[in-house]
Amino acid sequence: MKTPQHIAIIMDGNGRWAKAKGLPRTAGHKAGADTTKEIITAAKKQGVKYLTLYAFSSENWLRPEKEVSFLMDLLRLQLKTQVKELHKNGVRLRIIGDREKLNKDIRDDIEKAEKLTAENDELCVQVGLSYGGRQEILHAVEKSKGDTTQFEKYLYTREIPDPDLLIRTGGEKRISNFLLWQIAYTELYFTDKLWPEFDEADFETAIKDFSIRERRFGGAKE
Ligand code: FPP
Repeated sequence: MKTPQHIAIIMDGNGRWAKAKGLPRTAGHKAGADTTKEIITAAKKQGVKYLTLYAFSSENWLRPEKEVSFLMDLLRLQLKTQVKELHKNGVRLRIIGDREKLNKDIRDDIEKAEKLTAENDELCVQVGLSYGGRQEILHAVEKSKGDTTQFEKYLYTREIPDPDLLIRTGGEKRISNFLLWQIAYTELYFTDKLWPEFDEADFETAIKDFSIRERRFGGAKE
């Protein structure tokens, strides 16, 4: 089976999952974090080399303050508890987004985690935090000062190859400002499954779907 080298995921549906169970939205995010862990393990098992996860968008700052601070606390906890395990498993962690907007303690933990795991090459996990695709493009345009050959070097994703497959859970069929530049030729896969209920078998189904697609990158077959 043709395995995608790079999979990007829009992890949507935490709030709806919680609501359906009569729980607060925050319980959905907590369950979503467990799914994230499971899918990272599955990606490594499948031989995926890059996994890019949309955890918090530039626009998510507009959510109620209580939800934002819950997500930031969850992020703090994940950084404190998961990094060692990721490192042990040969996973490299990279954060993409406008990290200046994050609190200093989180920024410090991110830097530590990136340094610790920098040489790992089993799987590279990129996490979008305070990430917006349009903002990323504008940032790179400004930094590259009109030199288009240098432009991609200033994207947050730099030397990482473009995603082969983008998965969005939660039933919506849109991109929501994720990796706008990088997904020019990416195969898109949408599922109604909500992120907390998405599992390894669903992940494999998405990969199987990808493996039978014909990619032409704008070219033509014989
Ligand atoms: C989308 O569901 C999910 C998020 C905005 C957050 C994703 C976070 C995780 C998977 C946990 C790990 C992340 C961090 C930051 C530690 P939604 O709330 O938009 O769901 P809805 O569309 O059903 O309301």
